[in-house]
Amino acid sequence: MATIVGAVTTSHVPSIGGAIAKNKQQDPYWKPFFDGFPPVHDWLAKVKPDVAVVFYNDHGLNFFLDKQPTFAVGAAPQYTNSDEGWGIPTLPPFPGNQALSWHIIESLIDQEFDPMTCQEMLVDHAFTLPMKLLWPDVATWPVPTVPICINTVQHPLPKATRCYKLGAAVARAIESWDTDQRVLIIGTGGLSHQLDGERAGFLNKAFDLKFMDSLIDDPEWATQFSIHELVEQTGTQGVELLMWLAARAALPGKVRRVHSNYHIPVSNTAGGLMVMESVQ
Ligand code: DHB
Ligand code: FE
Repeated sequence: MATIVGAVTTSHVPSIGGAIAKNKQQDPYWKPFFDGFPPVHDWLAKVKPDVAVVFYNDHGLNFFLDKQPTFAVGAAPQYTNSDEGWGIPTLPPFPGNQALSWHIIESLIDQEFDPMTCQEMLVDHAFTLPMKLLWPDVATWPVPTVPICINTVQHPLPKATRCYKLGAAVARAIESWDTDQRVLIIGTGGLSHQLDGERAGFLNKAFDLKFMDSLIDDPEWATQFSIHELVEQTGTQGVELLMWLAARAALPGKVRRVHSNYHIPVSNTAGGLMVMESVQ
């Protein structure tokens, strides 16, 4: 059966793409954020994933307010990045793994989740920039992907408990995939940030750090909060931490923290990064 090698969870701010395009990784502003990634590169070289399942949230590129799935799973041969208005260069298309996509979709529906299935899917900065951060120097993407999109754009959003259960269901799907493939889980979003309204610029370091610790010691801790409580604690867009929760739930059993980094601010956002792997 397939093996889940671990998870990388990271923030996904558009201006990271601008910083990469302008080679600003060593600038004093960006260095504390980018310095988090070399240990991730070393870990990836060690665990050698064959394919990545990516929990991310679309921001209006592939799904707009007229049609907004709560959960969507990509089943496309490739995923194209297109200009979403932030002025960042687009990245080359990301190959899919349709066998794993359909296996996950069939398993999720069997487990009474009902995701939208997408045989065409554009991917935005939330998907593309974490891929670039994980594999900064490659000419072609080293692993095919299965994008799993969770709505954080238009309320009602899925509850934290539901996202946790989705992640656990994805883990069961992967563990029943009859191959010897090594599967990496990626979760992108958060941590605390609010881009608009009276609280624009809101960050909550204490909550973010508690949340990061909870993923190791008490992974269901965040499921006690309603969506509105999460918005209150983390900001309107801070609810993107649901991706971290789903990614953690996609790791079987207890986990250990391989690496983490936290730096504020990155643009308007608390830049978080974590690598976790299951302990045998
Ligand atoms: C920012 C953060 C995000 O998560 C996002 O999707 C867009 C912008 C920001 O901090 O600028
Ligand atoms: Fe975002």
